[in-house]
This record gives sequence, C-alpha cells and structure tokens, in this order.
Amino acid sequence: MENTVAKKVVLSGIQPSGTLTLGNYLGALRNWAQMQEDYLCYYMLADLHTITVRQVPAEFRQNCFKTAAIYLAAGIDPQKSTLFLQSMVPAHSQLAWVLDCYTMMGELNRMTQFKDKSTRHEDHINGGLYTYPVLMAADILLYQADLVPVGKDQLQHLELTRDVAIRFNHAYSETFKIPRGLTNETGAKIMSLSEPTKKMSKSEMGDGTIFMLDSKDVVMRKIRKAVTDSDGEVRYAEGKHGINNLMSIYSAITGKSFDDIESEFAGKGYGDFKAAVGEVVADELGKLQSEYERYMADKAYINQLLIEGSERASYVARKTLSKVYRKVGFYDPTK
Ligand code: TYM
Repeated sequence: MENTVAKKVVLSGIQPSGTLTLGNYLGALRNWAQMQEDYLCYYMLADLHTITVRQVPAEFRQNCFKTAAIYLAAGIDPQKSTLFLQSMVPAHSQLAWVLDCYTMMGELNRMTQFKDKSTRHEDHINGGLYTYPVLMAADILLYQADLVPVGKDQLQHLELTRDVAIRFNHAYSETFKIPRGLTNETGAKIMSLSEPTKKMSKSEMGDGTIFMLDSKDVVMRKIRKAVTDSDGEVRYAEGKHGINNLMSIYSAITGKSFDDIESEFAGKGYGDFKAAVGEVVADELGKLQSEYERYMADKAYINQLLIEGSERASYVARKTLSKVYRKVGFYDPTK
C-alpha cells in the first residue's frame, strides 16, 4: 500500500445494522471509492456503534459480513484503502473513554440524532446512545483524519469532534488533527419515498426506503409509489419534497443539474419521470449487486481482508492512543 506523507487522510464508516440503503450509498459510500486515488483512506464497519440499538446476534454478524461485501462491491479496493472492523481495534473504545471526560453533557444534550433515536427506541434509551458521538470522535481522531465523507445527518457529530479535539489540544498540546466533514452537493440527504420530509433510513419498514440489494422490480415499484404533489411539473421548488427528492436521486446518479432535468422532463408527467429515476437507480444498483454476489461467495477472502485491515488500523490507532495516554498523565511503568 502506498503511504506517502503528503497524502491527506480520510476516515469514514457505516453501521452494519441491516442492508445499506440508497441514502447510505449516495450520501457516503459512492464517494469513498473515488477518494481512494488521492487520499490515504480508512473505511470501517462501525459495529461498536450498532449495539446502541438492540441487535439479534446472528443477524448482526451476518450484516457485518454483508456490509464488508457491499463496501468491496462499491469499489473499495483493499490494495488502496484499509478496510476494517471497529470492534477489532480496541483503541476506539479506549480513546472514547478518555474523550468522554473532555465532552460536556450540554454538548451531548444538543445532538439531534440522540433526541431522534431516543424517541424511536423509547424502551431502550441507553448510555451508549447518548455518548455515541464521542465514540465517533474517537474513530476519526485516532487516524488523524483530515476529511470525513458523510451524509448531512452526521455533520453535527463532526462539529462535536472538532470541538473536543480543539479542547484537548488546548488543554495539552497539539495532539489531534482537526478534521473536516465532506458532503456531496447532491445526495447528501436522501429522503424517504413515502414520507419525503424524513430521512431515508435503514430502519424504515415500509416502501419508503430503497435498499442496495433491492431487485429492479422492487426499485421500480417503490419509486412508482413515491409520494409526490399534485402540481404535475418536474421542477425543483420549495415544498415539493417528493419531487425534489427524486430529482436529487436522479441528479446524484446521472450527474445532471436540476436545470437539465427540468428541461429533459418539460411537458412530461411524473409517471415518465419516475420510470426514468427507477431505471437509473436499478441500473446503478444492479451493477453493484452482481459484484456483491461474487464477493459473498468468497468468505475466506473477506475474512482475511478484515483481519489484515484491522491489524493495520490497530497499528495506526495505537500510536495516537499512546500519545493521548502520555499527555493525560497515565503512569507507564514500562518507561
Ligand atoms: P450511518 O450508518 O447511519 O450512515 C452511514 C453514512 O450514510 C449517510 N446517510 C445518508 N446520506 C444521505 N441520505 C440519507 N438518507 C442517509 N442516511 C445515511 C450517513 O450520513 C453516513 O455518512 N455514526 C455514523 C457511522 C460512523 C462514522 C464514524 C462515520 C461511526 N463512526 C466516523 C464517519 C466517521 C452512522 O451512524 O452512519
């Protein structure tokens, strides 16, 4: 693996809590492969984060493996990037504890994702759900990441990461690189097809979410049923949440601007537009799905990659952690 000093560092992760969605793909994963050429990239399966919501152990294990196969199918090249499992790198939990002690309750209270998730999982509002952004800060800071490619919903966590890193650097001396979140122009917030004022999410059960492994028929059906308005014109405008969302999806995949899309569908109805969106989505996912099947058939290969990637990640993460331990004053009897 090439490791030039000049290359900037990228880190990102997705929770393997189910099948990934079109939102995960367009908001994050799709950029990752493109960044591999210019950056030193670390891509992890954020499995420690996943247990903030109860998982069925056997399904969870399987989802982890499947998510690794999806990363590869999306073009993550283990020769160029380090692909690893968060739970195999103990430094994540270790740094998270230290950073917990440098994060204020007031800061955590402001996290909108916590407020949102605690309403959705009322019977299981645990401490992990609350301190989750600190674990995310540890993920990023351990690798001295410059850039963190994510969807819009994660930007608040990125702000917290920066604040905690700056606070720590001030309290001691320069320890962490201050990272920056990177979002796409289009696709950074894909909305649910059935409730287009809400984010498309893995946990939605109805037809509002397109999963990356959905067949063409399912994709076409979900998009055909997508909630729109009665205006009938394909045009990006305030309040036209459903159409704006479909235009964002279409734009993110084809690279066409909103103006181009408006001209392309001038005088045509929503039916034609939806069919076109369905085609490009199904086509994009279809290519990826055949790669996915190929990787899924090679369990030994994926396992070996995860073992090697996690070792490489551990080596880098341990270096930052020992620096932190030294700075906060933990006694080291070996020195
Ligand atoms: P997660 O697993 O919820 O989502 C993974 C990535 O997908 C993006 N995303 C979306 N983008 C556009 N539209 C949507 N509807 C949509 N839904 C999800 C998310 O913004 C994210 O980039 N906490 C993170 C995982 C994580 C992480 C990290 C990310 C843990 N540690 C360190 C970056 C760096 C999460 O739960 O993402």
